[in-house]
Amino acid sequence: MEKTVSEAIAYRRSVRIYNSDEEISYEKVVDCLKNAVLAPTSSNLQLWEFYHVLDKTTKDSISKACFNQPAAKTAQQLVVVVTRKDLWRKRAKANLSFLEHQFKKEETDNSKKKIALSYYKKLIPSLYTEFLGILGLVKYGIFSTMGLFKPMYRQVRQSDLRIVAHKSAALAAQNFMISMAAIGYDTCPMEGSDTKRIKKILNLPWGAEINMVIGCGIRDSKGVYGPRFRVPFKEVYYKL
Ligand SMILES: Cc1cc2nc3c(=O)[nH]c(=O)nc-3n(C[C@H](O)[C@H](O)[C@H](O)COP(=O)(O)O)c2cc1C
Repeated sequence: MEKTVSEAIAYRRSVRIYNSDEEISYEKVVDCLKNAVLAPTSSNLQLWEFYHVLDKTTKDSISKACFNQPAAKTAQQLVVVVTRKDLWRKRAKANLSFLEHQFKKEETDNSKKKIALSYYKKLIPSLYTEFLGILGLVKYGIFSTMGLFKPMYRQVRQSDLRIVAHKSAALAAQNFMISMAAIGYDTCPMEGSDTKRIKKILNLPWGAEINMVIGCGIRDSKGVYGPRFRVPFKEVYYKL
């Protein structure tokens, strides 16, 4: 039986050594990846991709690019979470066609329609259109000046938009890891890697970035390195 959300969160640990005798099912991992894409994503742009690595040669190369960390080396399968900020036009277009289709199917207030469509036709392009990072800086200058007088969205530089894409991709990664935990599968997120080499192994284009590599398998009895440590909750929780 699947664990509850709280049980899965409690079960999930970063597992560094996987049991080589216990296979995990390809289909079940794919199901967990289908849960990953249900994560919330900024402007619903879904600027992410998931590379599910089963091929031994590719897995070994990625493992090497992860400095042969046991969490990669002993994993049965790997999932590489990738951000694709460069796909914003394609994704905005997909959102637009979805909305247009929805609006045809159901009665929608005209002003609501106009706002939703203009979000993807105008706002997103004005945010994501870039030229060598210069446009972003110009936008940042303008928005910061306007921000002196009213609340303004300020995440407009190229570096800000990279963070925006990585935030959403990490939420998807967490959905994936919790889904894996729910069925008794283990994972370990890894950023300790040579991302340039991983991009090359996966044949990714220039605009793609590695968010994290996730080792997958079933924990070995020595797979969890120690008890869980968190700073006291009261140090990070603020009630206002
Ligand atoms: C973004 C990110 C990157 C991480 N990179 C690595 C890594 O490269 N190697 C590793 O062994 N663990 C890595 N971890 C796992 C953390 O060390 C681990 O989550 C932390 O120690 C807490 O332990 P827990 O996940 O078992 O609760 C990473 C975790 C996150 C969220």
